[in-house]
Amino acid sequence: MKKPLILAIETSCDDTSAALIAGNCDVLSNVISTQKEVHAKYGGIVPELASREHIRTLIPIVEMALEKAEIGLKDIDAVAVSANPGLIGSLLVGVSFAKGLAFSLQKPLIAVNHIFGHVFANFLEHKNIEFPFLSLIVSGGHTELVIFSSSVEYTILGKTVDDAAGEAFDKIGKLLGLPYPGGPFIDSLAVGGNKLAIEFPLPMLKHDNFDFSFSGLKTAGMLYLKEKGTLDEAATHDFAASFQHAIVEVLFQKTIKALKEHSLKTFLLAGGVAANSELRSTFTNYCNESNIRLFYPSEKYCTDNAAMIGAAAQFKYKKKKFASLELNASSVKGMKLL
Ligand code: KG4
Ligand code: ZN
Repeated sequence: MKKPLILAIETSCDDTSAALIAGNCDVLSNVISTQKEVHAKYGGIVPELASREHIRTLIPIVEMALEKAEIGLKDIDAVAVSANPGLIGSLLVGVSFAKGLAFSLQKPLIAVNHIFGHVFANFLEHKNIEFPFLSLIVSGGHTELVIFSSSVEYTILGKTVDDAAGEAFDKIGKLLGLPYPGGPFIDSLAVGGNKLAIEFPLPMLKHDNFDFSFSGLKTAGMLYLKEKGTLDEAATHDFAASFQHAIVEVLFQKTIKALKEHSLKTFLLAGGVAANSELRSTFTNYCNESNIRLFYPSEKYCTDNAAMIGAAAQFKYKKKKFASLELNASSVKGMKLL
């Protein structure tokens, strides 16, 4: 097995996860315990319940990850943890545990920015990605367009000025009475619908920058539903397809503008919304025609998981970028490297 061997921990939101990642970003195990059922009846995440659930499940999940990989704690070369951004109480559970474990094993501690984790999830399954590349990170909490010139040098071209793309999917999902999170359900409903049935606004498309905004679109969706009252089955499919198309179209147009302006030939999709089928097919078609290398993680690595934290940590390990035991979690949004 290729060294170094990293135990990675992810507790930034509502998934408790531990993974063992060997050198070259190979996954030996990746165990995830989702709290979706705990939060389902509230229609969103309750931060206090999330922290308590992490405390209850983290140690058994780490034990399962070690067992699955057939690794003993003494074989680990470093402990990595998602330290920012996220829900502060949730992050603190993982960070405190990782600090304690690194100290007791006398091994280096690696702090990973969760958004970086999403981007580096791509390296778990694709071993031929080369820098520089453009990355679109779309999740429940983030929408960012970033150029990576190396594993530690990056330029943020744009980000959402209000809601994240996933948040827009989830809020509309809630109004449609779908389970939380609504994104994957809207994706499925859209399959049988006409994406041109409703003309939703395409926010910020005309602005000469790479920023996004989804709160106006969300309001337009909400007003449409209010005006129409209950939708029949066909109308629900059309609504889902049209709403999804508006989100995908804005993400797509801004991204291809960035690819062209910066003459980039490699593009990585990342984050939970990267699992969206229209987003994937739209980029697949464009990248095939334009000779751009497109990468996206398989669905299980799109949403939150510890394997992606381990992948990002492998790059930091190579550059000896270790955290001190003074490390603190931070909920501040953004791509700051701790
Ligand atoms: O990356 P992630 O697990 O959490 C954050 O870091 O925020 O992303 C979760 C988000 C949710 O908003 C969920 O609705 C969305 O990803 N999502 C999708 C799909 N699968 C997950 N959105 C649209 N289509 C999907 N297939
Ligand atoms: Zn995430």
